[in-house]
Amino acid sequence: MEVIEAMRGRASTRAFLEKPVTKETIESVLEAARWAPSGGNTQPWEVAVVAGEAKQKIGDLMIEALRSGDRGKADYQYYAHRFPEPYQTRRFACGMALYDSLGIERTDKKARSSQWEKNYHGFGAPVELYFFIDEALEQGSWIDCGMFIQNVMLAARSFELETCPQAALAEYPDIVREVLGVPFEKKLICGVALGYPLREASVNGYRTEREEVGGFTKWYGL
Ligand SMILES: Cc1cc2nc3c(=O)[nH]c(=O)nc-3n(C[C@H](O)[C@H](O)[C@H](O)COP(=O)(O)O)c2cc1C
Repeated sequence: MEVIEAMRGRASTRAFLEKPVTKETIESVLEAARWAPSGGNTQPWEVAVVAGEAKQKIGDLMIEALRSGDRGKADYQYYAHRFPEPYQTRRFACGMALYDSLGIERTDKKARSSQWEKNYHGFGAPVELYFFIDEALEQGSWIDCGMFIQNVMLAARSFELETCPQAALAEYPDIVREVLGVPFEKKLICGVALGYPLREASVNGYRTEREEVGGFTKWYGL
């Protein structure tokens, strides 16, 4: 797949076919993604590829925790406590577009929370990728991991796969570490659901908007 086509066509996918993804295919995705740049070529990313019982167990435990009132504690703060403008408006529009696509009213808390819970089983994707980074590393290495994760999401598209990056899955890092036997010093960045998309699902049928280039770019000397 051509690079620009892969970038423009990627969209967070929240309904998947039950069709399994082979280990060879995932390996090919990671083989391409590993060519991401990193400061000093440190390659700080670590990936856990999780399917089957382990994936189910992690999702079940997270939902159990959530329902018991445990809001989790991520290894880092992803979202601002209070988003100033224009970020808050964009974030609100994104949530509205998602719930609109599912016909869920803003006031329908039950439907919203049941949609939210779908996060924890990766929206039915057969595979969840968990990305970790060593606690000794600094913000620069987190940037490197972001580039790697984007590479994974783009490379996946070359194999007809789609993805959804998920900060929701970083909310309960201890559950993930415990089920997978990952040491405490490995910090959980996020999950990425991976699978073949259910193209006809309405939740996959909307596209989030973007600012025009002029909205975020200043030109100097050109
Ligand atoms: C690091 C990261 C974490 C995200 N976490 C979630 C999540 O927990 N659940 C979810 O449904 N979408 C999540 N998203 C998806 C964003 O909502 C989505 O990328 C954004 O609305 C833009 O839409 P697009 O990905 O379809 O282009 C996340 C995206 C990123 C980059």
